Amino acid sequence: MYTVRNITEDLYWVGANDHRLHLFENIHPIPRGVSYNSYLLMDEKTVLFDTVDWAVCREFLNNIEHVLDGKDLDYIIINHLEPDHAASLDEVLMRYPNAKVISNERAFMMMRQFGFAIDGKEIEVAEGDAMSFGKHEITWVAAPMVHWPEAMVSFDTTNGVLFSADAFGTFGALDGKLFADEVNFDRDWLDDARRYLTNIVGKYGSFVQDLLKKASTIDIKMICPLHGPVWREDLGYFIDKYDKWSRYEPEEEGVLIVYASMYGNTEYAAQTLATKLCKRGMTNVQMYDVSDTHVSYLVSEAFKYSHIVLASVTYNLEMYPVMHNFLNEIRMLNLQNRTVGIIENGSWAPQAAGEMEEFLDEKMKLMDVLSGEVSIASSLNDSTDKELEGLADAIMDSFEKIREDKKNA
Ligand code: FEO
Repeated sequence: MYTVRNITEDLYWVGANDHRLHLFENIHPIPRGVSYNSYLLMDEKTVLFDTVDWAVCREFLNNIEHVLDGKDLDYIIINHLEPDHAASLDEVLMRYPNAKVISNERAFMMMRQFGFAIDGKEIEVAEGDAMSFGKHEITWVAAPMVHWPEAMVSFDTTNGVLFSADAFGTFGALDGKLFADEVNFDRDWLDDARRYLTNIVGKYGSFVQDLLKKASTIDIKMICPLHGPVWREDLGYFIDKYDKWSRYEPEEEGVLIVYASMYGNTEYAAQTLATKLCKRGMTNVQMYDVSDTHVSYLVSEAFKYSHIVLASVTYNLEMYPVMHNFLNEIRMLNLQNRTVGIIENGSWAPQAAGEMEEFLDEKMKLMDVLSGEVSIASSLNDSTDKELEGLADAIMDSFEKIREDKKNA
C-alpha cells in the first residue's frame, strides 16, 4: 500500500506521519505527532529529496516504489543528515543500488560516522553548484546550523520549489493534509511551529537570518520543508514569523507569567498580578505553572510575548529548581530583548529574586528587569499587594514606553 500526494505534476510527497513517537529528539512532547517529509521528483532522472525516520521506513519505501512505478531511482539528495531524515538512507540504497547520493562534504563525513554504506556513490556539491535532471535544474544553498552544521537547502530554479530542510518545519502530523492552505495554520499549527523552531533552532537565530537573507534573493514559489505542511500560498506570512523568531523579536505585546509555587501562595500572587494587569487593560496575559508545563511550551511562549514575569518560591536558599531549568533553557536558546518582572516568596530567607535577577543580568542578553521586585513572606498581605500594584504599573508603563520608542523610531 502507499500514501502519496502530488505537489506539482512531477513532484510527489512520499513521506510519512508518526503519532507513536511521544518525545521528538527524546525531549520535546509532540501530542499532535510529527511528519517526516520526503519528496520524489520524476524528471528524466528520478530524484529523491531526503529520506525519513527509521520508524516509518516501511511505508516510505512503499511510497517510493509506487511513484517510481518500475523506474530505477537515480539520485538521492541529502539536505540534512539528522537521523529523523537520513536514517533510511542505507535501506533505500540497498533497494536502489544504482542511486547516487548528492550532498556536501560535511554531510558525507557524518554519513560515514553513522555507518552508511555510501562509498562510490557520492556526488559532492557546495553552495552555488547546480545540476540538471532533465527539465528541472537544482541548485544548492548552504544552511549551516539550520539545524546542524551540514544542512543545506535545494532550490529548483525551473519552478521555484525550495526544499528547505528543517527550516519552515513544524511539529504535528499531516494526517492527509499536505498544504498549509488546507489547514487553519494560524489557529491550529502556529503554536507548534513556534515551539519547533524556537526549541530546535532557537539558539542559532543569526544562522536562520543568514538563510532568510539568501532566500530573499531567489524567487521562491513553494516551500517544501522536512516536517509539516508545504507552503504554496502566503509564503510571506510564515517567512515573517521566522524572521521575528530568529531576531528574538516578540510576536505579541503581552505578559507571560511563569510561576513556581509549592503550596499555592505564589500562584495566588501571580493570579493577583494577572488580575491587576487585566484591570489596567492588558488582557493578553498567559499564566503557566513551571512545575506542570513542559519547558518546550514555556520556551515557545517566552519567544512569543514581549514581557515575562517570573514568580518563584525560595528553595534550599535558591530559586525553585524547575524555574532555574526554565531560565537555563531560554538562556541556552539565546532568548533576549524581553522586559521582565520578578516576584519572590520565602518564609524565612527569601533568595529567589536576587538569584533570578543575577541570572538575567549576567547570563542573558538585553533582559530589562523592571525595578520594584515583589518579595512575599509566605503569603500576600496588604503591603505586598501594594508592591504588586507597583509591578503592574511598571509593566503598563513599559508597554507605553515601547510604543513611544516604536513611534519615534
Ligand atoms: Fe528534523 Fe534537524 O532534523
